[in-house]
Amino acid sequence: MKEEPYTINMDALERAVAELAVFHSSGGKLAVVHGGGSFGHTAAKKAMERRGGKLLALDAPEIQEAMLKLGIMVVATLRRHGIPATMHPPHTMCMSLPCGMEPMLRDLNQGLAPVTYGDALPIHGKTVIVSGDDLASWLATRASADCLIYVTRVPGVLGPGGKVLSMVEGLADPVGGSEGIDVTGGMRKKLEAALHAAGSVDTVRIVGLEGLGPALRGEPVGTLVRRPAPRPS
Ligand SMILES: Nc1ncnc2c1ncn2[C@@H]1O[C@H](COP(=O)(O)OP(=O)(O)O)[C@@H](O)[C@H]1O
Ligand SMILES: [Mg+2]
Repeated sequence: MKEEPYTINMDALERAVAELAVFHSSGGKLAVVHGGGSFGHTAAKKAMERRGGKLLALDAPEIQEAMLKLGIMVVATLRRHGIPATMHPPHTMCMSLPCGMEPMLRDLNQGLAPVTYGDALPIHGKTVIVSGDDLASWLATRASADCLIYVTRVPGVLGPGGKVLSMVEGLADPVGGSEGIDVTGGMRKKLEAALHAAGSVDTVRIVGLEGLGPALRGEPVGTLVRRPAPRPS
């Protein structure tokens, strides 16, 4: 629950995990990436305010701790629903960006369901925030995934007039940052990450929570993200 610091919206988490459990029990290969919610974003914002914007390497541990707390709840919920979830904190998995994701690829090959999340990495004396949006894009690309689904608080990418766009083929103009608390750039950054993955992943979608089940069943829901078709010469 991003509005309430350090609070998990258990109802939303349970609903999402129940859909993932159906997918997993029908034989689907699954990896999960979650965002900072009211944990990482709150901790990062607090540290930024204290430092006047620029985070030092010394600021990473408190953001990491907040995210470990959220991450363990996500993993516990997945496991309670019968999903063999394993935890991959980016601050131990990624030496630099883009992150190689090897431990998650190993677990996928072992039939496990690896989990990672947006996190704080100490790099060259600074803290770099890596977003779940980018991690998901890198992982889907490296794992040669068939499908990448971004689940967010809006039912898809909204066009002029607030209507969900059924397909986006590039960075559309009305797409902006976040109206809520978000240190990694809102819908615009999410769409950039989705477009990167769409270069190699067949189906990339941005959906709301209610769209997760249909998207996992292959139904056209939310916004399909595609690389722009090459211009005829
Ligand atoms: N064209 C758009 N369509 C959808 N959302 C948009 C658009 N432009 C800006 N946004 C903002 O982006 C937000 C989604 O990004 P974000 O807050 O970062 O979500 P998440 O927590 O899933 O990362 C929306 O809630 C909305 O405030
Ligand atoms: Mg975001």
